Amino acid sequence: MATTLSEYKALRDRHIPKGTSQSSPAMIREAHGAILTDVEGRELIDFAGGIGVVNVGNSNPKVVRAIKDQADKFTHTCFAISMYESYIDLAVRLNTLTPGDFHKMTVLLNSGAEAVENAVKIARYATGRPGIITLDGGFHGRTLLTMTMTSKVKPYKYKFGPFAPEVYHMPNANCYRCPFGKTYPSCQTACADHLEDFFIEHVAAEQTAALIAEPIQGEGGFITPPPEYFAKLQAICAKYGIVFIIDEIQSGMGRTGKLYAIEHWGVAPDMILTAKSLGGGLPLSAVTGRAELMDAPHAGGLGGTFGGNPIACAAALAVLEILVEDGLVARAEALGVKARARLDAMQARFELIGDVRGKGPMLAIELVRDRERKTPAGAETKELVKLCFERGLMLLSCGQYGNVIRTLMPLVITDDELDRGFSIMEESLAIIEGRPGR
Ligand SMILES: Cc1ncc(COP(=O)(O)O)c(C=O)c1O
Repeated sequence: MATTLSEYKALRDRHIPKGTSQSSPAMIREAHGAILTDVEGRELIDFAGGIGVVNVGNSNPKVVRAIKDQADKFTHTCFAISMYESYIDLAVRLNTLTPGDFHKMTVLLNSGAEAVENAVKIARYATGRPGIITLDGGFHGRTLLTMTMTSKVKPYKYKFGPFAPEVYHMPNANCYRCPFGKTYPSCQTACADHLEDFFIEHVAAEQTAALIAEPIQGEGGFITPPPEYFAKLQAICAKYGIVFIIDEIQSGMGRTGKLYAIEHWGVAPDMILTAKSLGGGLPLSAVTGRAELMDAPHAGGLGGTFGGNPIACAAALAVLEILVEDGLVARAEALGVKARARLDAMQARFELIGDVRGKGPMLAIELVRDRERKTPAGAETKELVKLCFERGLMLLSCGQYGNVIRTLMPLVITDDELDRGFSIMEESLAIIEGRPGR
């Protein structure tokens, strides 16, 4: 067996395909709260959260206890064979907590992509229509259908086609790089009104089952639509009987200082999709929606062997207790204010930062070579991630041009860890901006 990091690296390269790439060279031995410890004992402040999975912190003690307790009782029955309490308790909890004062139902699955797939199945079944509208810049997963719904070619789609039919991509609400060349608020959110034209040019409204959108596009670069956007989209969907689905897989579970990001827009979607931080580190996803839609498919049409695994459900119940009863969502809001102040100050100092955006602690900076033309600074972003890693901060980039840095730190991060993390980011930006020839 290998013992050193370089031996493990050699084994990894020989036995695991490069398609499953890593964004950092780290190999982790332990992780608690917002601190990752690698196999050589080096500590890293975690601003990545395993891509937004550990909002309640790495190995949160309450979650670990729930996992252990459930594992001692039983680990699996398959909900399609026999039911168990934690699945039902979690469904009730999600039906209550998600926005919207109407009868809801929940089906539990394993991954984000599986939640998206099931939402599409349910919307098609309930409406009898095939078409699915997604937004440019959106990311919905890596299965055939969800990869089709995603709109970044490399690395997600390149050479993996042909793609699933009846998926239509509409321009999104990107105020920093408006696809319509307009400026908010004088644009009067023309991007939302465009949906009516989209029905003329791309797919008929009466052939459209659902429109699916992330409240804040995650992989797309934390694109944050203006306040009126989602209410307008929802009204148009309602007019034509189109199911309005919100993908909260990255933005949900307290990430934005509210339990669900869509609450910032005051909208209650027909269906809401959660995964990632829902399971506190275990694979779990949920489709929660209007009962009349969710209950449309025939018995046996939904589910899977592992969906809503009892250990993952126990973990999720603990996650919700931490977020809601223990007040972590409220702390997230305060964290967001601090984080925003640090990033705004960095934007004032560094020309490289063209935009700061997001909600609560789900924030991003977009790096550009010049603020006028907004030329994406992809190489500088890569360098920033690398410099930060060398100084003890795990960062993640995103965005269509790979020039956005996002913050997905566990919401339990201490003030000191948060400050140290941002100071590392600032030092590293100073090095990059100070390079001769820039
Ligand atoms: C918004 C969004 N939807 C769906 C997915 C897919 O989730 P998973 O990787 O669990 O399949 C992701 C993953 O990053 C995501 O960010």
